[in-house]
Amino acid sequence: MAAPPMGRAPGPSRRALLAGAGGLAVGAAGTGTAWALTSPADPAPGPSKIVAPDDDLMREHGVLKRVLLCYRELISRVQAGGPLPAQPLHDAALIIHDFIEGFHEGLEEAFIFPRLRRGRLDGTVTTLLVQHARGRVLTQQILAQSTARGVTSAHTRGQLSAAMAAFVRMYEPHEAREDTVVFPAFRDAVPAGELADLARHFADLEHQQFGTDEFTAMVARVAGIEQALGIYDLAQFTPEA
Ligand SMILES: [Fe+2]
Ligand SMILES: [Fe+2]
Repeated sequence: MAAPPMGRAPGPSRRALLAGAGGLAVGAAGTGTAWALTSPADPAPGPSKIVAPDDDLMREHGVLKRVLLCYRELISRVQAGGPLPAQPLHDAALIIHDFIEGFHEGLEEAFIFPRLRRGRLDGTVTTLLVQHARGRVLTQQILAQSTARGVTSAHTRGQLSAAMAAFVRMYEPHEAREDTVVFPAFRDAVPAGELADLARHFADLEHQQFGTDEFTAMVARVAGIEQALGIYDLAQFTPEA
């Protein structure tokens, strides 16, 4: 089996993520990572592109959910004793690395979690930050092992399956808690005018980091992986009448 072309994409890796006035630097809570804050170099998206900050984060969770579905499919193949395709697995982990860990979680850590630190959700925020860090470790493992050589080893396939299972088990409740508790609490805590400013800022950041139609492009990437795995057709999940 020829080695698939799986070089790591030069993803954002939490670089220059946060644009703001004054060229400030902010540490990513719980990670110690410092991001350089610069003014957006590209024009801001038009008004039609602006999505409320919590809505924006929730639709990014939709991409995360679809990657989790890909992981579930791959885990089931390993459990059934079948081959583990390296390329779709690596591509799926790259979406997590580039878009979820490198961007989405940076927004949560810089703009959402700090607003909830002094209230009843302080403990929840601490747990979410720990989970972000654990998730990054799992993703690095998946990226490193999802090579053509790695997936031919039964031992490595088992390790990859365990890493994907741990990731899915953690992120399903993680994103559900954010959608139903954390983001609504954030919206309650932030004045409407500030929410609108933040919506514009999120849009600027996405545009700066990923270019035009970044969300559509990310959805297309995950759809391509679903097609490669044969799980794209939505109708296949409908139970028999
Ligand atoms: Fe999160
Ligand atoms: Fe999230």
